[in-house]
Amino acid sequence: MFKKITNLFTAIVFVAVTSLFGFSASAQTPIVIKLSHVVAENTPKGQASLKFKELAEKKLPGKVQVQVFPNSQLFGDAKEMEALLLNDVQIIAPSLSKFDRYTKKIQVFDLPFIFKDADAALRFENSKEGRALLKSMEDKGLIGLDYWGNGMRHFAANKDFRLPQDIKGLKFRIQASDVYEAIMKSVGANGQKMAFAEVYQALQTGVVDGQENSFSNMYSQKFHEVQKTILETNHGILDYMVVVNAKWWNGLPADIKKGLTEAMAEATVFNNQIAKQKNDEARAAIEAAGKAKIVKLTDAQLAEWKKAMQPVYKQFEPEIGADLIKAAQAASKPAQPKAEKPAVKK
Ligand code: SIN
Repeated sequence: MFKKITNLFTAIVFVAVTSLFGFSASAQTPIVIKLSHVVAENTPKGQASLKFKELAEKKLPGKVQVQVFPNSQLFGDAKEMEALLLNDVQIIAPSLSKFDRYTKKIQVFDLPFIFKDADAALRFENSKEGRALLKSMEDKGLIGLDYWGNGMRHFAANKDFRLPQDIKGLKFRIQASDVYEAIMKSVGANGQKMAFAEVYQALQTGVVDGQENSFSNMYSQKFHEVQKTILETNHGILDYMVVVNAKWWNGLPADIKKGLTEAMAEATVFNNQIAKQKNDEARAAIEAAGKAKIVKLTDAQLAEWKKAMQPVYKQFEPEIGADLIKAAQAASKPAQPKAEKPAVKK
């Protein structure tokens, strides 16, 4: 009883003192935002996450504290989405290949050779259809804030190879993507879904023979040290969707949401400015290291890879939708010149 009275007295004194000095406990406590990802800091996503922290804390001084956890330190692939939905982490930026449990439409990004380069993927991401995909998982509790680009993906293996038939029967680590499982099948190889943090060891110990990824990820994870050949296939895009827990996001005060939205927009511009440079640097560093050999494909060899993987389109068209596939393909086509206005007769 005496303890209860003492606690009550302490609470009254605390409220009186904080009111007297014109501050409250909540004004003192910044909202802690955990941003977790699975790659190294010296990658486009690693750098963009740090940029977002810097911008958010500058725009909302004392109101938010952004804690960035790189390299699967907080949550790896298997757990990060679940953790976001439980609000154990507030922002994650998984590869677009890792969302197919939440929306089948997003599989469009994984279709083989759908984008001729990273700029085409960016054009699609910024199109009406691409922006709509950011909102397509709200009923599952996820809101996409934006896309962050990384770069094109290439196949690599512990043997010398040039053509699809050269990797027949080999085991390839793939991301958690049904489209990639079908892609590997289309060339007679076996796709093994595996968390990013486990790939280096799996390659080193021979659990898998190869993998496919961007130069920036291969270099920062040292995959080139345990692979013989990296074939510059440019068969897909490795980009990200930055997602938040919908309930948490919708419950934020308006000024916080505004500041975070602005910080995200600026961090996205920054990410897309450095992505190509980071991948070019990683490619050069892999070459300089002299371990895995980077091989360019001839046009004829590239045509064979495209032909072998073509059936994947038919398989996934019912889930993705023919219109969405067309919209994505359009991003790789040269822009049509604007029709000239008919001359006005006087
Ligand atoms: C990432 O870039 O976030 C990881 C991609 C992968 O799992 O290969």
